[in-house]
Amino acid sequence: MSGRLSDAWLEELRSRVSLEEVVSEYVPLKQKGHRFWGCCPFHNEKTPSFCVDTESQLYYCFGCHKGGTAINFVMDMERMEFMEAVRLLADRAHMELPERGERDASQAQSRDERERMYEANREAARFFHDLLWQEEGADALNYLYGRGLNDSDIRRFGLGASPKGWDGLLHHLEAKGFEPGLLEKAGLAVRKDSRWFDMFRSRVMFPIINAQGRVLGFGGRAMGDAQPKYLNTAETAIFNKRLGLYSLNFAKKERSVGRLVLVEGYMDTVSLRKYGVKGVVATLGTALTEEQARLMKRYAPEVWISYDGDAAGQKAALRALDIFDEQSFPAKVIDYPAGMDPDDFVKAKGLEGFDALPKYDSTSYRMLRARDGLTLSTQDGMTEYALRCCAILKKVKSPIEMENHLRRLVNETGYDREILLRQIGAAPVAAVQQRPARRMRSQSSEPTGVEKAEQELISMLNARLIPPELLKKEEFSTQVHRQLVERLTTGESINAYIDQISDDSQREQAMRALNYTPLPTERERALEVAEEDLRTMRAQRDNQRSEQIKQQINAATPEQKTEMYRRMAAMWKESGD
Ligand code: UTP
Ligand code: MN
Repeated sequence: MSGRLSDAWLEELRSRVSLEEVVSEYVPLKQKGHRFWGCCPFHNEKTPSFCVDTESQLYYCFGCHKGGTAINFVMDMERMEFMEAVRLLADRAHMELPERGERDASQAQSRDERERMYEANREAARFFHDLLWQEEGADALNYLYGRGLNDSDIRRFGLGASPKGWDGLLHHLEAKGFEPGLLEKAGLAVRKDSRWFDMFRSRVMFPIINAQGRVLGFGGRAMGDAQPKYLNTAETAIFNKRLGLYSLNFAKKERSVGRLVLVEGYMDTVSLRKYGVKGVVATLGTALTEEQARLMKRYAPEVWISYDGDAAGQKAALRALDIFDEQSFPAKVIDYPAGMDPDDFVKAKGLEGFDALPKYDSTSYRMLRARDGLTLSTQDGMTEYALRCCAILKKVKSPIEMENHLRRLVNETGYDREILLRQIGAAPVAAVQQRPARRMRSQSSEPTGVEKAEQELISMLNARLIPPELLKKEEFSTQVHRQLVERLTTGESINAYIDQISDDSQREQAMRALNYTPLPTERERALEVAEEDLRTMRAQRDNQRSEQIKQQINAATPEQKTEMYRRMAAMWKESGD
C-alpha cells in the first residue's frame, strides 16, 4: 500500500499531522475530553456519532463504522488513492516526499506535464470567463441570460465564452508561456498541417471541475445550429469523459443531503442548482458508466435519476437503473411530465415543484415503463402488462418489497395473487429467504456472539482494562483481530497497521474492534467480562470441532466410528467445567 515510503517516514507524517485539524476542515466538531464529536460525513445523520480521538489519532463513526487514520480520512473524503492522500497531508505538514533514489525520469516528466495541463485549463477557464464580459462574448452572455441565468449564476459555475476567431485562446496562453504542443495534448488546441487552432470557437463554455477543484476539461455549447450541439474536451491525460462527473466540486460539500441527483447535461445541472436543488451532478456527454456509478456511491447513499421526460430520457433511465442495481447503489427515478427536461420543469415549478415530484423506486419505475405502448383497457394489453411486471418482479429480492408490488399488481390487473406468484416463478421466493439473511450477516451492525466477544476483548485491551497475558492471538478468529491483538500486546503502532489495510471492509472490522462499547469502567468487572468472552470463543471452537467430527462420523466405517466417539468423549471431558 505505502509503496516506497518507509515506515519511519510515514510515522513522522502521522505524528506531524493533527487528525482533529484535518477533520474539522470538513466537519464541525465539538470537544468532549480527549474526543471530538460531530455528524458523520460518510452517512446521513442528525445527532453526532462520529468521533475523532486525539490520543489515538483515529476517527470512528459509531453509526456507519467507518474509521481510520488521517490518511484514510483524506482518501475517503477526497476520493483519493493512498499516495495522493499522503502527498496532500505531506504538503500540509511541510514534509518533502522522500527522494526515490533514482527517480523514474519519464514518470516525473509525465506528472509535470499533467500539472501543466491543469494550469493551462485553469488559465483557459479564466480567459473564457473574462471574455463573457467583453464585446466578443456578448452573444454568449445574452444566450445565458436567455436561458434564465444571472451574473451570479454565471460566476458561480465559472461559465464563459470561447472566442469567435481561430486562435484567441492560443495567443493568450502562448503569451503566458504555454507551448502549443501542450495545449494540443490538453485538448484546447488542434493542429492542421503545421498550424494550431483553438479547439473551442464561438461556444458557451462550461468548465468541468473535479472534486479537488481542478479544471479537467470543458463542455462547449453551440449558440446557433452549429454541430455538434455540445463539443466536449477530447480524451486527454487528465480528462476521461467516462470517469468524471460534472459539478462534483459542489456535490462534495453536500454529503449531508443524503442523495445525489443525476441529470443528463450541463444546463440541467446549472438550472436545478440555481433553483436550490442540491447534490446535482451530470455525466459528460456519454451514457452513465459503471465507473461513474461507483464514483457517485462515495458521495451519497442514494441517487435520483433525473433525465428528460421523453422516450430517449426514459430509455436512458432504465439503463442507468441497471447499472446502479449492478453496483447495489439504491436509485430512484423522477418521471418528468411529457416532453419536459429538468431545466424546463424547475423553471416552471421551482424547488417546491421539484420536491413534490414523486421519486419512483427502481421496481416501481420499471413497472411504470412496462405500460408504455400498451392499451390497458383491452384484455391483451392488460395481459401483456401483467407478464412484463411479473418478469420485473422476478428480480426483487426483499420479501416485503415483493409483497408491496404484488398487492399493487393484483389491484391493477385483477389477476389472482397465486396466479401472479406462479408466473413470477418459485425461484425468487426461495432466493428471498436466503439472500437477505446472508446480507444481514456481513453488513449488520449487530455482531455475532464470537465477533462481539473478540471486539470487546480487543477494545478492553486497547483501553488497558485487561492485561495482555490474558489473550492469545491464535484464539481469535480473523486475521485482522489477530493482528490487532499482536500489536496491542507488543506495543507496535496500530495506526501503521490500519494504514496498511487496503480493503475497506477489513479496515471497518479493525475499527469496530477498537471501538467496542460499552466497556466496563472498573478493572475487576473487566476481568469478569473478559472471562465470559473467552468462554464464548472457546465454546464456539469446540462446537465447530464436534460438528466436524459429527460429519466425519456420518461418512465413517464402523471401526472409524468407535475411535471417533472415544476422541469426542475425551474432548468433552477436557472442555467441560
Ligand atoms: P441535450 O441535447 O438534452 O442537451 O443533451 P441539454 O442539456 O438539454 O442542453 P440544452 O438545454 O439544449 O442546452 C444532453 C447532454 O448530452 C450531452 C451534453 O452533456 C448535454 O448537456 N451532449 C448532447 C453532448 O455531449 N453532445 C451533443 O452533441 C449533445
Ligand atoms: Mn435536454
